[in-house]
Amino acid sequence: MEGKHIIVGVSAGIAAYKAIEVVSRLRKAGAEVKVVMTEHATHIATPLTFGEISGHPVAIDMWEEIHNWNVEHIALATWADAYIVVPATANVIGKINAGIADDMLTTTIMATPAPKFLCPAMNSEMYKNPIVQRNLESLRQLGYHIMEPASGWLACGVTGVGRLPEPEAIVSWLTQELQVIDGNGLLKDKTVLVTAGGTQEYIDPVRYIGNHSSGKMGYAIAAEAAKQGARTILVSAPTSLDVPQGVEYIPVDSAESMKAAVDSYYDNTDVVIMAAAVSDFRVANKAEQKIKKMDSMTLELVKNPDILQGLGERKKDQLLVGFAAETEHVLAYGEDKVKRKNLDMLVANDVSKSNAGFNVDTNEGYFVYPHGTSKVIPNMKKTELAAAIIKEVSTLLRNKDK
Ligand code: CTP
Repeated sequence: MEGKHIIVGVSAGIAAYKAIEVVSRLRKAGAEVKVVMTEHATHIATPLTFGEISGHPVAIDMWEEIHNWNVEHIALATWADAYIVVPATANVIGKINAGIADDMLTTTIMATPAPKFLCPAMNSEMYKNPIVQRNLESLRQLGYHIMEPASGWLACGVTGVGRLPEPEAIVSWLTQELQVIDGNGLLKDKTVLVTAGGTQEYIDPVRYIGNHSSGKMGYAIAAEAAKQGARTILVSAPTSLDVPQGVEYIPVDSAESMKAAVDSYYDNTDVVIMAAAVSDFRVANKAEQKIKKMDSMTLELVKNPDILQGLGERKKDQLLVGFAAETEHVLAYGEDKVKRKNLDMLVANDVSKSNAGFNVDTNEGYFVYPHGTSKVIPNMKKTELAAAIIKEVSTLLRNKDK
């Protein structure tokens, strides 16, 4: 943060007072901070406090001349290296997305070429409102960085999602996002191979044995690895997902074709994350022509190679991360699997739960390590879990290098 010029925009959420600590922490981290408030926000937290803590006059009114520094909204917008709105209300999010610029905050954020960060905070129902979600998604598409709000007790007296995360978490998120933008992501200079999707084992030219894997977890991990600066190779069985930006895409179908692709990259890879659901069996004699109707038929299946097991056996310096889908004894089976496959970490999912595992957007379970320790993964979005996995991988890599 040293020397960075940060604008903190404060809109009229009840959590506006927390932005004071955000400003203070940013300054302690070496940033220069200027605050822009909406007029409504001044009813919740005083500009005087923000002025004192930031060391600069606070910009609120477009039409009032500010004497202490050379400000029109354009000068302020050009000065910024980053613009973060803490808290971002439903109203301000809606206005930014609609291109409305009718006060100092919305005008300066529209005028700045700097990367933009929003920390939404509001009542749960407002946050879940499809209009707010649509606006956030559209801003995300436009390159805005959006922090997930926390869950917990809200000022309106209910418990739910929509809380402004703690200032420490906001500053650490902003710091990490800026590192990524500056090309200093957690996996800079590393090569990461991710497998994803469910393999397809052909019966004949038109039929296959498949599974319920959507590929969402692996794709989210590949997107996060690329975002954190890794050269990212995504070896994927067929899915209906878009290939994440900045990722080298290697399409495969069967377990054998996935093994061939993974093996060919393995020696030059720092990290392998096997998120694919690989079929344990394939059809012994695949029919060359489409099989015609008949009263009954028997398929003979033979065992597929265990790709991950093979990687574990010839591991040199690579860091190996496996996945396990379990319906019972999740931790115990995980502890066995992480050792048996010579892994550095196993993500063990409880797929018996409706909000974890195959074909849903959330996941939960454990990170299991070979030396007998583990961490609980609470239920979270797969995109959040992907970020947690990549963070864990970068920590394991750093510990390995020591
Ligand atoms: N895996 C693999 N090759 C296979 C089967 C699985 O590389 N033929 C990988 C998966 O990508 C995953 C991990 O191994 O990372 C899953 O391990 P596995 O032992 O297959 O666990 P389960 O699928 O949970 O099956 P089981 O408990 O029956 O062993």
